[in-house]
Amino acid sequence: MTIVEELERAGLTGRGGAAFSTAIKVRAAHDNDADLVVNACDGEVGARKDAWVVEHHLAELVEGARLVTSGRRDRVTYAAHRGSRTADLLTRAGLEVLDVPARYVSSEETAILSLLHGGLAKPMTKRLPFVYGGRDSLGKRIAPTVVLNAETVWRVSQVRRNGPDWFRRFGTDTEPGPRLVSVGGAVAHPGIFEVGSGVPIRDLLDAAGGLEPRVPALLVGGLGGVLLTTDEAATTAWSGPGMAAYGGSMGAGVIEALDPTRCPLDVVTDLVTYGAGESAGQCGPCMFGLPAVAESWAELARDPNQQTLDRLQDRLGVIPGRGACHHPDGVTRFVGSALRVLMPHIHEHVAGPCPLGRSRHAVH
Ligand SMILES: Cc1cc2nc3c(=O)[nH]c(=O)nc-3n(C[C@H](O)[C@H](O)[C@H](O)COP(=O)(O)O)c2cc1C
Ligand code: SF4
Repeated sequence: MTIVEELERAGLTGRGGAAFSTAIKVRAAHDNDADLVVNACDGEVGARKDAWVVEHHLAELVEGARLVTSGRRDRVTYAAHRGSRTADLLTRAGLEVLDVPARYVSSEETAILSLLHGGLAKPMTKRLPFVYGGRDSLGKRIAPTVVLNAETVWRVSQVRRNGPDWFRRFGTDTEPGPRLVSVGGAVAHPGIFEVGSGVPIRDLLDAAGGLEPRVPALLVGGLGGVLLTTDEAATTAWSGPGMAAYGGSMGAGVIEALDPTRCPLDVVTDLVTYGAGESAGQCGPCMFGLPAVAESWAELARDPNQQTLDRLQDRLGVIPGRGACHHPDGVTRFVGSALRVLMPHIHEHVAGPCPLGRSRHAVH
């Protein structure tokens, strides 16, 4: 069986966030004799799993990359944040490393490709197919290139070594295979856990030693994900359908318990301000819309009233789907979920001073 057939049987989907079929991407890579970029940036807030793959499974990662490029090791580049331990480990292993600026949108795949081909680490404003290529503005040929997440590439080697049936022993029929989750924030023992889709989120939190007392909410999926109440998290499965019930997804596999010593409205202010500041400044709705959302949220946290709330909701309504990349969609989804989950707390603010701590240190 070819690796593409094995991946089809295994049903592996990308572990970088979008959960697209890896078999389709690898087939296209083979058909186009494409180069490969292994995305090991861990750009999402709270994400650490790809660093873990590089640290603990480097030989298998390299083997997975070899399978995608039909044995051509010289065709593989590893993308990692500049100055990170991941970049250091990859460099010391003698691998080709692309130094990616440690900015949120720089690890989006078209930003990586732009950087790889001598441009800025900003998402390309044109939607592209998943194998890129063609010619640059000076007419120079750009080799067809596919971008896969580091965990995905590691899973490719596992499917080859252990077979598709082994892979399907984990997870569910529609979301098969083992997957990594970074569990962090206000838990006793933050760490990386390997589970199958469908495991209760409560079990993941238990594996991380349990939540600290009075955690106000959980950030699931990072800045491109959603907030959940602790009760919701305790009764929800870690799966696509489980998260879809709240408008979220398993994304890049992150669960982060918010700091119980800080007002959660302030925590969200920090996160949305960070997200707005990370816009690559190329698309109007993202460049102007996200700072406006951040400003409305901060106002709401300071002085909650109906007018500010209405303005925030209006602003949230006009941004999604209008950027070249998914960054603004992710941030607006996150803020929408924060409004839902923290509305009772917003009402408490209307009634009087915040009952929770108000220290102002940043969370990321
Ligand atoms: C703003 C933004 C940041 C992203 N950061 C990462 C990242 O750090 N690592 C990653 O693997 N994918 C990241 N992605 C997803 C990639 O664009 C891409 O879908 C992924 O690397 C493809 O790999 P996969 O098919 O194996 O999931 C990001 C996407 C967006 C919109
Ligand atoms: S949507 Fe935002 S982050 Fe994405 S390309 Fe446009 S300006 Fe840049």
